[in-house]
Amino acid sequence: MTGRYSRITGWGKYTPSRILTNADLEKMVDTSDEWIVTRTGIRERHIVGPGETNATMSVAASRQALDVAGLMPKDIELIIVATSSPDHFVPAIASEVQYQLGAECPAFTISTGCTGFVYALATAHQFIATGAYDRVLVIGSEVISMFVNWQDRNTCVLFGDGAGAVVLEVSNQPSGVQSFVLGSDGSSGNALIVRGGGCAYPMSHEMIDDKAMYIEMDGRKVFKFATRVMGEATLEAVEKAGLTLADIDLLIPHQANLRIIQLAARYLKLPMEKVVVNLDRYGNTSAASIPIAMVEALEEGRIRDGMNICMVGFGGGLTWAAAVVGWGQPAQPVEWPLVWRFAPAGRKVSMAATRLRLQARQLADVASYHASSVLLPLYTFAGLHKTGDKKRRIRIVSCVLLTQHAISPPSIGVPGTQQTDQCPHPNARVASHIIWPFGIG
Ligand SMILES: CC(C)(COP(=O)(O)OP(=O)(O)OC[C@H]1O[C@@H](n2cnc3c(N)ncnc32)[C@H](O)[C@@H]1OP(=O)(O)O)[C@@H](O)C(=O)NCCC(=O)NCCS
Repeated sequence: MTGRYSRITGWGKYTPSRILTNADLEKMVDTSDEWIVTRTGIRERHIVGPGETNATMSVAASRQALDVAGLMPKDIELIIVATSSPDHFVPAIASEVQYQLGAECPAFTISTGCTGFVYALATAHQFIATGAYDRVLVIGSEVISMFVNWQDRNTCVLFGDGAGAVVLEVSNQPSGVQSFVLGSDGSSGNALIVRGGGCAYPMSHEMIDDKAMYIEMDGRKVFKFATRVMGEATLEAVEKAGLTLADIDLLIPHQANLRIIQLAARYLKLPMEKVVVNLDRYGNTSAASIPIAMVEALEEGRIRDGMNICMVGFGGGLTWAAAVVGWGQPAQPVEWPLVWRFAPAGRKVSMAATRLRLQARQLADVASYHASSVLLPLYTFAGLHKTGDKKRRIRIVSCVLLTQHAISPPSIGVPGTQQTDQCPHPNARVASHIIWPFGIG
């Protein structure tokens, strides 16, 4: 650890009010409440309604997280959105969220399926640990219902929509993100796939007839994979944090299937009281499932200062991810190394100096432009007096006039604007792509 720790200081969630129960699904496909509950543990899920999108849900969850952290959107220095169901391919959902939230910071999207939130948390932690940023907003949000074939009983009973968000802030106390484990096995990518809509199988009538825009899944293969990696990733993350399983107060697993969670808990010898389960009410909300479960656990008072929690998930890719997070402040505060204490002030001074340098250069460029508009005609007419070549005079006058009109202050110094050796006047800085088509020189 570097002395810069990243603590979760704000959290929020949003789930659509529209609820789809197992009884509703019984009317849509050949299934039963009994089958769904015994095989998955899911009883109902939330599905977006009119006006609800991935971005609106992300923003709603983020506003709550900012409120809890006591921050304004403009305080956030980076936004990372984890999702596999963005509103658009372009622009990235993260930029839409940044704009709708009213934040003024970089933003990018991570797409690793259901492990997206833990991947994003680990990424945000890196930006904080290296000193690049002090406050990062991490969001997991999905409108997975848009990619579900509501006639396919193998998948449509599993998924739901929602969003969760956390604010990660720098701290000099050794709490917050303690360790993480990320993994990927692309060789099994076909086990959970949306075949169409990308470059490999672009949008077409044929692709739509083929129903390739929907999630397809080899449930048994994913099940086997999940039961293996959930336990292994948890153990690895706990060891990396320098802890033992006995130190873990709460496990927050990806909410895909109750049987998978129970098997992982059994493998880890963790009692179910130490495991958060809320999939009965939300189904699998992919990248949103862990933050939603975490926020519910907080609301229920199951997470308190000084606790160690472990988040663990698996998903499309296939991928897996786990992170150990220390909650709140530790008992023993530690001194921040000198270099980190002065780093933010140093960054501010360096930025102010750079800004001043740029402003001075802009001022100089504008002044030189105005000076040239006075001096250039003077030079030119002084030169014209000495030459008797009529054609050359016309070329010089055209060059001067074009120079006067082609160069406006903002274009000075822009690449592509250069002093051309074909212009007869040595002081004429001419936009070459404007002059050449006129055949001057
Ligand atoms: C999908 C899953 C619930 C299926 O449970 P399962 O016990 O493995 O069920 P099986 O695959 O053995 O299927 C059993 C039967 O139920 C049927 N079935 C599937 N979905 C059904 C449904 N919704 N209702 C009723 N029957 C269903 C199957 O067609 C199969 O019938 P068959 O034996 O006649 O072919 C389970 O495999 C699972 O949860 N896998 C992990 C999926 C996951 O987590 N995905 C998200 C990853 S982020």
